[in-house]
Amino acid sequence: MKPKVFIAKPIPKEVENYIAQYCDYKIWKNQEPIPMDVLLKEVADVEGLMTPKGIITREFLEKAPRLKIVSNIAVGYDAFDIHAMKEQGVLGTHTPYVLDESVADLAFGLILSASRRITEFNNMVKGGKWDKSIRETYFYGQDVHHATLGIIGMGRIGEKIARRAALGFEMKVLYNSIRRKPVLEEKYGIHYSELNPLLESADFVLLMLPLNNSTYHFFGEEQFNRMKSNAIFINCSRGQVVDETALIAALKEGKIYGAGLDVFEVEPVDKENPLLKMDNVVVLPHIGSATEQTRFDMAMKAAENLVACVTGRVPENVVQELKCLVK
Ligand code: DGY
Repeated sequence: MKPKVFIAKPIPKEVENYIAQYCDYKIWKNQEPIPMDVLLKEVADVEGLMTPKGIITREFLEKAPRLKIVSNIAVGYDAFDIHAMKEQGVLGTHTPYVLDESVADLAFGLILSASRRITEFNNMVKGGKWDKSIRETYFYGQDVHHATLGIIGMGRIGEKIARRAALGFEMKVLYNSIRRKPVLEEKYGIHYSELNPLLESADFVLLMLPLNNSTYHFFGEEQFNRMKSNAIFINCSRGQVVDETALIAALKEGKIYGAGLDVFEVEPVDKENPLLKMDNVVVLPHIGSATEQTRFDMAMKAAENLVACVTGRVPENVVQELKCLVK
């Protein structure tokens, strides 16, 4: 008998066919997120769950007593209650590597849009507001090439951003990270920096940290105060790593030049959020990995992790904190 699994979002047919070879599966086919009461019924007797950033709590696990694996279709797994999963012996996997280049591309989209005011002027031109009376200096932005980029968090995605910055835009790249990366320093000519000097000298401060207990509101008033007044803040990791009230205040008070944000403390972002009304802030709906190819690759990777676990093998991408369950 094939193991039973549940897939909590629509996935490409090819990925579904792969799962079908090994599992007895059910799938949520609607585009709207699955309601929690429906999900709880579906997981009551399954061994595997594949879910997009699904919130896995202790209560959830208690209602899914046969569950062996939660295969997250995302790299960030801040929605996992790691302690509860460890206690219940439920593996958690995620989808690293396959989205790194796409997220790095988008980070550069934000860097360029915020510094050269691309979205602001796009809106102006389309709104029929470009006319001869506007003085030339009004259009001035900030250069990206040869500027200093400070990356906080030098993981897989940070590395791809650093490569683009150093080799493509000839930027000076500073980074701050728990661990120094001598190989990358050598390869791309990037420099490790303590946090404060990085904040004080970067023209662009880019956050690429995972959300966990030690990074919640890691970046706040003190850090914004240290940034240069012509510096731009970029976040494409998780909104809750930043104290958004402090970001709003820094922008309102002109402590920084602008921001490029793919993520927010609350998503979808509140329509009344002041960030949405600021011309010097570029906002996106958390689309770092949202290309057809990358989302396909993420779904396939999540499927491979799911199938490996329920067929008795060790999945390739067990999250760091739960690796103890497979040793
Ligand atoms: C991830 O994989 O964690 C991304 O944020 C999803 O878009």
